[in-house]
Amino acid sequence: MAAGTVPRGVARVADAALEASVVASFGRPGYLARRALYGWGPPASDGAGRVAVVTGASSGIGRAVAEALVRSRWSVVAVSRDPGRNAACVDELRAIAAGDRDAGRVTGAVADLSDLGEVRELGSALRAEHVRLDALVHDAGVLHRTFHRTDQGFEATFALHVLGPTLLSALLLDLLRAAGASGAGSRVVTVSSGGMYPSRLDLERLEHAAPASYHGAVAYSLAKRAQVELGVEWARRLARTGVVALTMHPGWVATRSLDAGLPAFARAARGLLRTPEQGADTAVWLACAPREEVAGGGFYLDRRPRALHLTPWTRTTAVERSRALDRVATLAGADVPSASGR
Ligand SMILES: NC(=O)c1ccc[n+]([C@@H]2O[C@H](COP(=O)([O-])OP(=O)(O)OC[C@H]3O[C@@H](n4cnc5c(N)ncnc54)[C@H](OP(=O)(O)O)[C@@H]3O)[C@@H](O)[C@H]2O)c1
Repeated sequence: MAAGTVPRGVARVADAALEASVVASFGRPGYLARRALYGWGPPASDGAGRVAVVTGASSGIGRAVAEALVRSRWSVVAVSRDPGRNAACVDELRAIAAGDRDAGRVTGAVADLSDLGEVRELGSALRAEHVRLDALVHDAGVLHRTFHRTDQGFEATFALHVLGPTLLSALLLDLLRAAGASGAGSRVVTVSSGGMYPSRLDLERLEHAAPASYHGAVAYSLAKRAQVELGVEWARRLARTGVVALTMHPGWVATRSLDAGLPAFARAARGLLRTPEQGADTAVWLACAPREEVAGGGFYLDRRPRALHLTPWTRTTAVERSRALDRVATLAGADVPSASGR
């Protein structure tokens, strides 16, 4: 079957059938089948003059996102926590850019994004260095198998996936608005997970997590659910700004954190896992696609928005989502647009 020769309606029916079989859909077969069905081109368009901040850029999916953007001439700020891994990643990305005299600039920034003080410092440094931001990709994430508390007293999964990204988005909103006012609009892309499907939005549980009742996979699922629900609310509040908020699922991807967080699953699914580049494809595409091709607040897998809920009991209301964003903003000390969008 030649790429792109399948009629769109047929491709969508085949895609829906694939989606129903979760294992194939989330695994490598899902990516390969959809790429063939829709005849995808490369995910990134020419990004000369555009700037992206990519968190989690030192390995796995974030590394692949950063590399795809660098290859497409974006200027990229690669953010991660470990200084040695960050420096190595910046060196590698610069070596890739060196082959192209029109390539953008690659810089690195080290921050523990579960530490709100470090997120603030990162935000200040980025604001001092840049006047516009075309894409903010929140990729940094990890499944903590044991309970950790941050210096600010929050459970680490909640802090890293929910509080830190909310604060960073808020701190960089002026830069995102500046880029959003022109052309394609700017993007905030959050790498969530299909692991959020079993959970309902429950901030109370995230906020009041305790060591005795902590379960890493549950905390991760709740945090990933919160990312998706907050993404819908961010998109609503930013609707008239040119800044488009989106969330996505990369599929099941062979990475360091999958091995560490879910070792038995990683072993059992080994032959089915996507490469980091395959997992990164949709995040890169969301950062680069023309404005009219992306739906703010959507939860994407393989370049298409997917259901936010697979069961009725996980559904939330607009009021709950709005309250949740306000509560997260209060906890993180983040200045987010008001519920009326101002
Ligand atoms: N792999 C999968 O199957 C899968 C499926 C669904 C969703 N995801 C999501 O995809 C994202 C990327 O994960 P991955 O699988 O690519 O894992 P990975 O290869 O282990 O990469 C994780 C990245 O996050 C950074 N990071 C972790 N904790 C951090 C912190 N406290 N502060 C700053 N940076 C931090 C790491 O930086 P250091 O190098 O400094 O540690 C690294 O760059 C995560 O949000 C994950 O939840 C993954």
